[in-house]
Amino acid sequence: MRTHQCGQINETMLDQVITVCGWAQRRRDHGGVIFIDLRDASGLLQVVIDPDAKEAFAAAESVRNEFVLQITAKVRLRPEGTTNDNLPTGQVEVYATDVTVLNRAEPLPFQLDDEDVGEAVRLEHRYLDLRGEKMQRTLRLRHKVTQHMRNFLDHNDFVDIETPMLTKSTPEGARDYLVPSRVHAGEFFALPQSPQLFKQLLMVAGYERYYQIARCFRDEDLRADRQPEFTQLDIEMSFVNEEDIMGMMEGMMRDLFKASLDIDLAAEFPRMTYAQAIEDFGIDRPDLRNPLRLVTVSEIMQSVDFKVFSGPANDPEGRVAALLVPGGSEKLSRKDIDGYTKFVGNYGARGLAYIKVNEVAKGRDGLQSPIVKNLSNEALDALIQRLGASDGDIIFFGADKAKVVNDALAALRNKLGVDLELLTEKWSPMWVVDFPMFEQNSEGNWTSLHHPFTAPFEDQVELLKTDPGAVLSRAYDLVLNGSELGGGSIRIHDQNVQKLAFDALGIDDAEAEEKFGFLLNGLKYGAPPHGGIAFGLDRVVAMMCEVESIRDVIAFPKTQRASCLMTNAPAGVDGKQLKELHIKLRPSAIKEKAEQAEQAE
Ligand code: AMO
Ligand code: AMP
Repeated sequence: MRTHQCGQINETMLDQVITVCGWAQRRRDHGGVIFIDLRDASGLLQVVIDPDAKEAFAAAESVRNEFVLQITAKVRLRPEGTTNDNLPTGQVEVYATDVTVLNRAEPLPFQLDDEDVGEAVRLEHRYLDLRGEKMQRTLRLRHKVTQHMRNFLDHNDFVDIETPMLTKSTPEGARDYLVPSRVHAGEFFALPQSPQLFKQLLMVAGYERYYQIARCFRDEDLRADRQPEFTQLDIEMSFVNEEDIMGMMEGMMRDLFKASLDIDLAAEFPRMTYAQAIEDFGIDRPDLRNPLRLVTVSEIMQSVDFKVFSGPANDPEGRVAALLVPGGSEKLSRKDIDGYTKFVGNYGARGLAYIKVNEVAKGRDGLQSPIVKNLSNEALDALIQRLGASDGDIIFFGADKAKVVNDALAALRNKLGVDLELLTEKWSPMWVVDFPMFEQNSEGNWTSLHHPFTAPFEDQVELLKTDPGAVLSRAYDLVLNGSELGGGSIRIHDQNVQKLAFDALGIDDAEAEEKFGFLLNGLKYGAPPHGGIAFGLDRVVAMMCEVESIRDVIAFPKTQRASCLMTNAPAGVDGKQLKELHIKLRPSAIKEKAEQAEQAE
């Protein structure tokens, strides 16, 4: 249908007759001459239609935005003063001899380049949103990223192997999406939360280096960086330790950022233990671009006459931590501080004590704060010294159960970093290592911090029996600018150790057999030591595109309420289909559905 793409036309082609196809991005009428900016996947081209070309002109007159056109034209230089240096085709225009309307377009629900269109409208007409320049750029970059990953892995002898979508529950900690079986009444497949168990079995099977760009499904509370259906770059290797895996993956990320964005990531990614990350940042995915640090001051506050501090300071599960903001006293108004107090409230903090350090030399008289009166001179001196505070600084405090303090101050630290423009560099990758193997849930039971197949350090295997909470695992997370891009671990390849891990989790033999019998069987027949990692591909691309939400890098994403506004999925099915699947809806579900339908009207 065409001889060239719009973006290919340039000044080396003067007087050539070409045929191009595309969309009418814009039509302008200028003193009897019509200009059309014609757009295809390669770019924009200016088309001139003169009234002398009668038929072409008549066709051009009917053209509206986003009509689909085929145009035959002659290439010529743009008249002096009308060139556009920002456009690859900006030195030329084409003079049309023939304009064919291949298809018409109704007026669009929004203009493609309008930045202020609500997300709901964009998602409802996603095919139009995807037509816009921003999404075109994003999805093409996403393609480049996966292409690059594939090349890197291919060069390193990884094999791309597909694993099933219709499978059994994989324990990554979220709820499963279930698929009812018609053939097996009352039985369900689960969509994979990750290919975890299959990739381990591929190691048992001797593939040694596996990867897959795999779709994963998790029914969990959604946020900007979580989708119910998302993509992982999933990797597993045999005969490796954590150094081998982290080294290989650092190399891949460095290559990827260099090749895709011409960005040089650090030659060596810093590593930090989980314990250190929580101590200094209150979170296991610290943003190292931000120079602020949390400092524990529990010890100093143990004997002060201020219950808000002394209570948590003496509670083994409590923490009193301070966040020193250099120069913050001048930069932050009373109103700002009230705003931050409200902000930390979202994370469960019951207040945000602060001290403005006006003049260190004046001792307590140089400190301005509603709480200074409650603190002894010794405590204040020790505090100033511990934090290294100087004139003009402000100190914020969190005092509560450690989790509340950590959550609140970690969030405050991030917010201050942005508000006060403290970020020192653009890209700051790091590894967090030495995670605890288990954490206690609200009912006091141990759950896996990663997943139950993560290996403990060898010298800690015995502790699984006596003190599971103290066991550290051979897990690692890759964190970039405060976002967890990926996580993995060395796995348990010994069935006896696997059994101890299950014991700690309260999974008995019968349950283990029922849920993971196939993996345990696999481990019996010569499983090599192995380990791996999975990256959230959507998160990697979102970071590279510097967008807030992973919805902006997924072609057809779901909303925060886990639905698709374009297809209206999920949707009801007819009674016959349900019957075939041996499913009967509960009265409460029928009622809820009716209510939702009513609301939608
Ligand atoms: P994990 O559960 O940490 O590990 O997932 C790996 C990475 O996947 C991304 N991710 C998500 N991205 C978008 N939406 C979600 N709902 C979502 N959940 C997770 C994150 C995360 O770092 N099988 C293990 C990996 C392994 O041990 O090899 C696993 O799935 O970027
Ligand atoms: P109060 O004694 O409750 O009036 O609090 C005095 C100061 O301590 C106020 O600035 C509160 O915001 C702050 N505050 C109260 N509770 C906490 C807490 N748990 N952690 C940090 N600051 C707090």
